[in-house]
Amino acid sequence: MRNLNSMGLRYESGRLLVLDQTRLPHEEVWLESRTPEDMIEMIQSLRIRGAPLIGVGAALALAHLSKSDVSKSQFMDAARSLRAARPTAVNLMVAVDRVLASVGPGPLEKDTIIKCAEDFFDEDVRLCEGMAAQGAPLIQNGDNLLTHCNTGGLATVGIGTALGVIRRAHESGKRIHVFVDETRPLLQGARLTAWELGKLGIPYTLICDNMAAMLMKKGKINRVFVGSDRIAANGDFANKIGTYSVAVNAAFHDVPFYAVAPATTVDSKCPTGEQIPIEERPSSEVRNQWSPRECHVFNPAFDVTPIQIVSGVVLDDRIIKGGRGGGF
Ligand code: MRU
Repeated sequence: MRNLNSMGLRYESGRLLVLDQTRLPHEEVWLESRTPEDMIEMIQSLRIRGAPLIGVGAALALAHLSKSDVSKSQFMDAARSLRAARPTAVNLMVAVDRVLASVGPGPLEKDTIIKCAEDFFDEDVRLCEGMAAQGAPLIQNGDNLLTHCNTGGLATVGIGTALGVIRRAHESGKRIHVFVDETRPLLQGARLTAWELGKLGIPYTLICDNMAAMLMKKGKINRVFVGSDRIAANGDFANKIGTYSVAVNAAFHDVPFYAVAPATTVDSKCPTGEQIPIEERPSSEVRNQWSPRECHVFNPAFDVTPIQIVSGVVLDDRIIKGGRGGGF
């Protein structure tokens, strides 16, 4: 397999390496994924995260496995387990299904599987550029943007989804500033997006998730860009918990709101947002030093935003208009 390089995932001299995102921004530690079980643990613990990135991680883990003397039935079992590692981001299922489709009826053909995983990696890089080309023109010089969670180079193997749009707008010379939701409970905004924006030299301000409405009321936010983990056939989309309330606030204050995602995030078999499976994560992620030790916790990792209340969904090759219209 050839060497592959991205901000959070690498294939280097026969080793599959993952940047442990749980230790960012203060420590940059690369971990080796030797087996599919390693990759599953890293996906479930969010060492590797972001819808497109976990798909590419799973595809590379299968390609790496195919190089060993694995039997076909062991390979198929590993594929099934990787596919089920997290339930919401459809990119993971798309990636594993793509690899499985390259497996013929006979013995495992490792060259075909490796080529499929490498192509999936390259495709994600191209899809990010496509989203940026579609979305960056929506950003005006002088805009104050808001984003939620992390959608950049740490969530893909390219420049990112929503953050890729923001990055290309900045690089084209538009003067912009980004408000970053810290994104409770696991702080992907505070830890990861702030880190990425700092590296890119894009001016930003970190805010708590409950501050956006007040800023919108004061006219301090012109446009919102977020990512997505699964887009249903009717355009409803799942994204990091808290996205729905940002969209409601944006609709109330008439602030244009866009989700940005690649073709690999669209699930045409899922009719509406109602059918998107939502991951629930451990209570320990929400309980903290201020809460009673045994308090009851509800911890859904994602919520669903109806297409009716957003301006649009930016894909890599087109924009789906949302029910709010305007903003274009
Ligand atoms: O739980 P996470 O950190 O994997 O959630 C990630 C998000 O919600 C992103 O917004 C989403 O994957 C789309 S961005 C590439």
